[in-house]
Amino acid sequence: MVNMNKSYPNILVTGTPGVGKSLMCRLLSERTGLTWIDVSKFAIENKCLEEYDDVYQCPILDEDKLLDHMEELMCEGGKIIDYHGADFFPERWFDIVFVLRTDNTILYDRLKDRGYTGKKLEDNIDCEIFQTILEEAKSAYREEIVHELMSNNVNQVTSNVDRICQWIEQWKIDNEQ
Ligand SMILES: Nc1ncnc2c1ncn2[C@@H]1O[C@H](COP(=O)(O)OP(=O)(O)O)[C@@H](O)[C@H]1O
Ligand SMILES: [Mg+2]
Repeated sequence: MVNMNKSYPNILVTGTPGVGKSLMCRLLSERTGLTWIDVSKFAIENKCLEEYDDVYQCPILDEDKLLDHMEELMCEGGKIIDYHGADFFPERWFDIVFVLRTDNTILYDRLKDRGYTGKKLEDNIDCEIFQTILEEAKSAYREEIVHELMSNNVNQVTSNVDRICQWIEQWKIDNEQ
């Protein structure tokens, strides 16, 4: 991020579907005024979808087009990026990466409530058990900027938001121009 004179950091919030990314991003954005971008929604709004995956019942992203659309926004700084993948964004975009984690039984109930069944439900639970997204984040970004946060209950999400707010305040002090 050396060449970007940002006043606010860019934050990646990632993890298996259902771990609470969107809930935490919304609370964080309300507290800080930073802009929350839910990448799945952003892709739809900006017509960055290619086709529909029948097995996973979800759309497939046109990644190049999506990255092009996001580039300018990321250069501004102050973005909270919410996505269930960590390895296709440019490394230079992010000052810090949070990987949210949830206990399997809790995640199972959340995904069932969301209407997930069959292979889609099982694959997402496996993704959490094998900590796929955490490994993905650790291999895509410098390990010292990747942080794992538990998000099983409301107390945890509240303390995670508090911690991130403190980190942002420190980032602003360290990056004063
Ligand atoms: N820490 C938490 N404590 C209690 N409920 C949570 C927590 N995080 C998320 N939830 C609930 O679980 C569901 C999935 O959360 P969501 O933020 O949509 O996950 P994601 O964006 O990662 O797919 C929502 O109903 C949300 O309110
Ligand atoms: Mg979400």
